[in-house]
Formats: sequence, C-alpha cells, structure tokens
Amino acid sequence: MTDFSTRAIHSGQAFDPNTGSVIPPIYQTSTFVQKRIGELRGGYEYARSANPTRDSLQQLVADLEGAKHGFSFSSGLAAEDTLLRSILVPGDHVIMGNDVYGGTHRLVNRVFVPWGIELDTVEMTDLDAVRASIRPNTRVLWVETPSNPLMKISDITALVEIGHAAGVIVVVDNTFASPYLQNPLAFGADVVTHSTTKYLGGHSDVLGGAVVLNNDELAEKLGFLQFAIGPVSGPMDAWLTVRGIKTLAVRMDRHTANAQAIADALVGHPAIERVYYPGLAGHPGHDLAARQMRGFGGMLSVALAGGPTVARAFAESTELFQLAESLGGVESLIGYPSEMTHASVRGTALAVPENLVRLSVGIEGVDDLVADVLAGLDRATA
Ligand SMILES: Cc1ncc(COP(=O)(O)O)c(C=O)c1O
Repeated sequence: MTDFSTRAIHSGQAFDPNTGSVIPPIYQTSTFVQKRIGELRGGYEYARSANPTRDSLQQLVADLEGAKHGFSFSSGLAAEDTLLRSILVPGDHVIMGNDVYGGTHRLVNRVFVPWGIELDTVEMTDLDAVRASIRPNTRVLWVETPSNPLMKISDITALVEIGHAAGVIVVVDNTFASPYLQNPLAFGADVVTHSTTKYLGGHSDVLGGAVVLNNDELAEKLGFLQFAIGPVSGPMDAWLTVRGIKTLAVRMDRHTANAQAIADALVGHPAIERVYYPGLAGHPGHDLAARQMRGFGGMLSVALAGGPTVARAFAESTELFQLAESLGGVESLIGYPSEMTHASVRGTALAVPENLVRLSVGIEGVDDLVADVLAGLDRATA
C-alpha cells in the first residue's frame, strides 16, 4: 500500500476475523477478561493501557505521517501536554512561534512555566531570530506551520537544522496541513502533533489529539505517560476519528480548491485590506509552501479594511459560514480570532490583529461559499 488514499482506508483497519465485519468493531470496553492471572487472551488488559480501537487509530495516524510510533489522546491539548511532560524537566527552555494556537501558548505559559519551564516566543519565519533565541537549556522548538491564524509558513528543514545543531527536539503541529498535505518527519522533524478534532476527524463531531514520532526512547516515555496519566481517546472517539480519516484525501482536495477560490475572490475587494492564504502568489510563504506542502489547505484569514468593528460585523454576517470556534470540518466556519481562538493572548505581545477574521473553508459548493462571503462583506460594510 503506497498511495495515501489507500492507506487512509486500509491501514490498521483489517476486517473482523470473527464475524467478517468489514468495519472493525468499536471495542467499547474498559477491561478484558484474562485466562489466568497475568495471562491475557488477546494482549489487552485494561483500556487505559491499550484498547484495540485506539490501537487502530494510532497505527493509522502513524502510517499516514510515515512514523514508527503513534499515540492518540482525548484532545489536541492533552496530546501536547503529555508530549511536553515526556520531554521537559524544570529548568528546561521551550521556544515557540509567536502566533501558535492560543491554547498551545496558554498550556506552556500557564501550566508549564509555573512548574519551572522557561518559555520564549519567536518569529519562526525569521531563522536568525530562532538561532539567537536558542539557549544552553533549550529542549524544544515548537513549530506550527501553517500557523494559526496568520497562515505563516515556516521552513521545517531549516528549523530542524538549527534545532538539531543545538540538540533541540523539533516538534511540528501539523493540524492545519494534515498528513495529506505535509509530512514534517520527512523533513527531519522529531515529533508531529495533531489536533485530530480538526481535519483528521473532519466532521466537527469528535475531540482528539495525536502524537507521532520515530524515536524509540521518547516513544517509550510517552507511552508510559499516556498510561500513567490516562488522557487517552475513548473507543467511540477513536472510531469516529478513523471513520473521518478514510475520506481525508478527497476532503482536503476540496477544502483546498474552495479556499483558493475564496482567496482569489477576496484579493482586491475594497473591504479587504489583506488576504492571508499561502496559495496566493503574493503570500510571503508561497514558494516555501509549494515546496514543503502538497497543497495549500483549507484555512485562510482576512484583515478588514474597516478595522475591528467591520471585522466583528463580518464574522456575524455570513450564513453558510457559521460563527464558531474550531476548524477542519466539512462545514464552513468563521471566527474572530482575537476574541475567540486567541482570546488567551489578547493584550499581550502575541495578540492577533483585531481586524482579522479567520475562515475554515468547508467542502460545500464553491459558488455558494463565495456568494456567502461576498454577501457577508456587503452586510458588514453597509
Ligand atoms: C493548531 C492547533 N493545535 C492544537 C489545537 C488544540 O486541539 P484541541 O482543541 O483538540 O485540544 C488546536 C485547536 O484549535 C489548533 O488549532
């Protein structure tokens, strides 16, 4: 199985040998009957340590990212938290991009920093700045590309070179691209994280997170913490995520085509100051994205010429694009990052522009979506 779409449908998804069921069952169980004390029947003991449905998701995500090990969690942040615990000890230093998802920044800044971790944020597209921010105690370089919500593109290969020269673990949050469009491990990254809540699940009906990696030693620590802390994905959530992943390739193609059409329609629109979409030739990361990704994805942001008031009005004026947190589902969503996804960094140096609106472009008919966005702009500026 070499083709991505084939692997997305079959990897870790063998039919059930007992019944012939094409779809592996949802093992909705917390525990497993033993033959004798310590003698297991199918290798499973208790669902916090392992459950066949979670295993099938973990195997699938690892395969799609080209990784040896995969772990799934109850949310993207649970995945990030467990990963960071497996790497960091008090006194260690973490560097992250200055426009990472607000919740990722909050996790490190409000949970890890009080426990003795040091945090610096840096402009990840400025390689000199990244180099200059590395200290002797730096352990993690946290990269999000494309970034949320400014759609900046960071050069994974160059960052890996900088990080590895200093013995730093390079983590890439691949949520926005999904494994269909980008595989950071292939560029030398050590670890990839996902909020599977987004494109992998794909239907806005399940929370989840994943971590994939090749390093055996780190994988062992992570597996231990997953078991010892217990932030695992439940069987139903794991199954829903697997179900979503089967159509990832076709969804991502459609998300990308629709986002490109909307970006093209908005460039030069009098109500729009700037469109942030890597598929536009004028985007500063366009050439890098074309090399590093297999498509430009379904996310874009726009800065409104009329400022924050018009931006807020626009976010409340569309009809098909529903006002909601999150992204990556088949249905289009619109958000006002400074008071929604990035509210936790409002008023800080990491605050996102207040005239910014983010669009998660769904897979509805493209003409309907373009018309909805244009009508929303008309209403917001009337
Ligand atoms: C890029 C990115 N990473 C991580 C997360 C956190 O994932 P979750 O909401 O599943 O905990 C999000 C959530 O919006 C995200 O957008």
